[in-house]
Amino acid sequence: MKLRGNTLVIGLQWGDEAKGKITDILSEQADVVVRFLGGSNAGHTVVTGGQTFKLHLIPSGIIHPNVLCVIAGGVVLDPEIFELELNDLVAGHIKFDGRLKISQTAHVVFPYHKLEDQLKENSLGDGKIGTTARGIGPCYTDKATRTQAIRVCDLFHLEQLDAKVRDIVNYKNRLFLALYNSPGVNADEMVRKAHRYGEILRPFVCDTTELLQDAMAADKRLVFEGAQGTLLDVDHGTFPYVTSSNASACGVSAGSGVPAKAIRTFLGVAKAYTTRVGTGPCPTEQINAAGDRIRERGHEYGTTTGRPRRCGWFDAFATRYSVRLGGIDKVALMLLDVLSGFDKLLICTGYRYRGQMLRSFPTDGEVMKEVEPVYEEHPGWAEEIDQVKSFDQLPANAQSYVRRLEQLIEAPVAIVSVGPDRAQTLMREETI
Ligand code: GDP
Ligand code: IMO
Ligand code: MG
Repeated sequence: MKLRGNTLVIGLQWGDEAKGKITDILSEQADVVVRFLGGSNAGHTVVTGGQTFKLHLIPSGIIHPNVLCVIAGGVVLDPEIFELELNDLVAGHIKFDGRLKISQTAHVVFPYHKLEDQLKENSLGDGKIGTTARGIGPCYTDKATRTQAIRVCDLFHLEQLDAKVRDIVNYKNRLFLALYNSPGVNADEMVRKAHRYGEILRPFVCDTTELLQDAMAADKRLVFEGAQGTLLDVDHGTFPYVTSSNASACGVSAGSGVPAKAIRTFLGVAKAYTTRVGTGPCPTEQINAAGDRIRERGHEYGTTTGRPRRCGWFDAFATRYSVRLGGIDKVALMLLDVLSGFDKLLICTGYRYRGQMLRSFPTDGEVMKEVEPVYEEHPGWAEEIDQVKSFDQLPANAQSYVRRLEQLIEAPVAIVSVGPDRAQTLMREETI
């Protein structure tokens, strides 16, 4: 496999499309791998040679010994999770010295962000979003509000840091008490943590925008590892049941500081069916034996929270929307092996709303709540396919399923995945 140029990996559904696996595979051809949004709400899995790595903040490229890994400014970084991940890498015998960089402009997630996330969710009852409780929304909120934010570079201005932390904690605690009757967090402890966070992060911090621009000037190959998925994008997803950043391809430039035109290939990643964690509409969800079968065969339990994922049929109408929105050139279709053994598979080709077929994917939350999926049927296949080595060896019905999805989503499927391991990957094109 070769890369034509700098490549973006982006989820086309509601996250967990196996972006980690694809990023790891592309990393073999990459000099630099960049995370540019989200935080430890992400959970990316890489499986190789019997070892499994679960990464939340550190780019999946880290498993490859020569790849430089960058956490760019669009990320909201929890130093405590980052430290745990470093320990996991050490335990897994992965050396990262000198090849892990963090942007000085990334925003820092503090314990009060996680508390705020939980208190807010608990107060919403049935209307909750079902967040990962990792403080992501509150940290991005503070970024947008500006005056309550702490960025990585702030951790090193010790003359100002303590007063800044105390001011923020004072403000947050008044809010927590008034809105949620919660005592909040301890200011001294937050100040101590801020100092410790600086010590944890110091060896890794630099101006990553300049670093990436220098890398491009030196003709290095960059891979951008998306997190979450297009339908969780705060502007273009199923609002309000989304994350708090631009998780579609639209977010790569702002999050990384690299102009979008510097990226040659936009590679979309989709599961061969649909999953979603948390609340919010998921029109093709199957709360029945079919959904349970997908969950058990696909081990569909959250990498970050362990929550059972909601499972259902492939939604070609939603995925085509993501393809168009992101200018997706090619698609990696993942977890096809999970669908073995179904007599028939359903594919959602459109939505009906109050008796009418919708022309476009609804971005109005009230409409989205009410849509009914319209399906076509596709014959299934009985054989297990996890040991298949090429696309041509797949059962005829599996091949035609992939071809039908390509037609419906209007993008070619260049990669088909039939198992979690690197080796269980069928390349339909040698150059991506
Ligand atoms: P990400 O967040 O997009 O990186 O995806 P996750 O890691 O959260 O979830 C994908 C899960 O599917 C992980 O447990 C992977 O190891 C697993 N996986 C990846 N590709 C395949 C595949 O083709 N078949 C099966 N059965 N599992 C896969
Ligand atoms: P990766 O990168 C799946 C979902 C949460 C919730 C909503 C908002 O592993 O694909 P947040 O904590 O971000 O405020 O939660 O978004 N969510 C994800 N779902 N995969 C993810 O990341 C997700 N990151 C956030 O479940 O519904
Ligand atoms: Mg995940």
